[in-house]
Amino acid sequence: MPKMWAGRFKKETDSGVNDFNSSIAFDCRMYRQDIAGSIAHAAMLAEQGIIPEEDCERIIDGLTGILDDLGSGALQFDPAAEDIHMFIEAELTARIGDAGKRLHTARSRNDQVALDIRLVLRDEIDEISGLLEKLTQTLCEMAKAHTETIMPGYTHLQRAQPITFAHHLMAYASMFLRDLGRLADTRERMDECPLGSGALAGTAYPIDRALTASALGFAAPVMNSLDGVSDRDFCIELAGALAIVMMHLSRFSEEVILWCSWEFKFLELDDAFATGSSIMPQKKNPDVAELVRGKTGRVYGDLVTLLAMMKSLPLAYNKDMQEDKEAIFDAVDTVKLCLSTFEPMLRTASVLKGNMRAAAAKGFINATDCADYLVRKGLPFRDAYKVTGTLVGLCVDKGLTLETLPLEEYQKLSPLFEADIYAAIDLTACAMTRNSLGGPAKESVGRQIAWAEERLRGLGQEDGEGMPE
Ligand code: ARG
Repeated sequence: MPKMWAGRFKKETDSGVNDFNSSIAFDCRMYRQDIAGSIAHAAMLAEQGIIPEEDCERIIDGLTGILDDLGSGALQFDPAAEDIHMFIEAELTARIGDAGKRLHTARSRNDQVALDIRLVLRDEIDEISGLLEKLTQTLCEMAKAHTETIMPGYTHLQRAQPITFAHHLMAYASMFLRDLGRLADTRERMDECPLGSGALAGTAYPIDRALTASALGFAAPVMNSLDGVSDRDFCIELAGALAIVMMHLSRFSEEVILWCSWEFKFLELDDAFATGSSIMPQKKNPDVAELVRGKTGRVYGDLVTLLAMMKSLPLAYNKDMQEDKEAIFDAVDTVKLCLSTFEPMLRTASVLKGNMRAAAAKGFINATDCADYLVRKGLPFRDAYKVTGTLVGLCVDKGLTLETLPLEEYQKLSPLFEADIYAAIDLTACAMTRNSLGGPAKESVGRQIAWAEERLRGLGQEDGEGMPE
C-alpha cells in the first residue's frame, strides 16, 4: 500500500524498514481510543466550520462502522500498516472516499498518539485501582478474622515482639492505600488533552481545543503545544507508581513464600493456588507468589526503559517515543495479572494460627514486656533491660522460656519480681496491651481497619482522609 506521506519520495520504503518502523503490532490495542479521538476531532472541525457537516457525518458513520467491525472481527488489523492511526484513516478513506481525507485537517499523528495513550492509560488506571481496592478490602476482611491471632513480629527476620496477624495484614493495606493515592495523583495530572497541539506548533485553523478536551472527558487542554506532543511524564509517573505497587507485592510475596515453608508453616495455600513438582511428589510450591516476586523486576525494567528512552530527547516529538507503548503496556498488564492472581491466592489460603502462636512462644519475644514490668515497678529502663537480658541468657542455658522459668530464678536477679510477672509476659497480654495508635492491640487494629475501610469508601471523594473515632 502506498504511504500517505509518499508525496516527496521517489522510492518505496525498504521492507526491513517498514517492519522496523511499524508499531501496529502493539498500538492496535488503542483502536477504540483512536476512533473516539477522531470522532471528537471531526465533530469539532464541523462545529467550527472547518469541514462540511455532511463530511463529518460520513466520517462518524465510517468510524463507527470500523469500530464495530474491529470489535466483531469482521475487520482485521493489517500487520503491514505503519501504525493504528494510519490503518484506521486508510480504512476510513477506503470506505467513505474524500470525506475520510478531510479527517486529518488540523491534526498530526503526534497529538493523536499523545491523546490515545492518555485515553488508554486513564482506563487502565481505573482498572488497576479497582483491583487494588479489592485486595485492600480482602486484607480488611481477613484482618477482622485475625485480631486475636498472635504471631511473632520480626526485625532483621529475627523474632522481635508479639503482634497479631491482623496487624501484619493491615500494614499491607496501608501500603496499597498509598498506591491508590499515587495512581489517583497520576490520573489527575494527566487529565489534560493534547489534541490540537498538531505536529508541534498548533494550527492556523480556528479549532476549539476546549471542545475536544471536554468531549473526551478531560479537565482541560494541554497548555503548550510543544509539551502536548512531547510529554510522556504520565507514562513515567504511572510506571513509577506501578513499580511501587510491585515492590509492595514482592515483599508480600516473599513473606507468603516464607510462611509456606516447613520452617515457618504459618500459611497453607489452597491447592488451586499452588503447584507441584515433576520429580518430588511431596512438593507444594508457592509459584504464584514467586512469579509475582519475579515479575517485579519486569515492571522496574519498564520504568527504566521509559526514563532512558526520554532522556535528553530534544523537543518536540521524536520517533524514539514510539517505544513508550510496549513498556507502559507491559507494566500495566503485568500489574493487572499479578493483582488479580495474588488476591484470590491470599483470600483462599488457610492461616495456621497454632503454628503462629507456637513460633511466638519461642524466641523470647516478650522480653521487652518483661523489662517493661520492672519499669512499672520503678526500675529505670536500662537497668530493667540488663536484668531481662541476663534472664534470657539463663533461659537459653537451661533450655527454658521466660514463661517456664521459676519465680525464684527471677527473684534472684531482682526482688521486684512477683508472681504477677507471668501474667505480664503472657503473649496475648503483650500484644493486646499495645494499644498505642497503630499498634497490634485488638482495639487499635480495629481502628486501622475502620480507617482503611473509610478510605476505601471515600476514594474519589475529597473527604476520604482522617482517622475515624
Ligand atoms: N506510531 C507513532 C508513535 O507511536 C505515531 C506517531 C508518529 N509520528 C510521526 N511523526 N512519525 O509514536
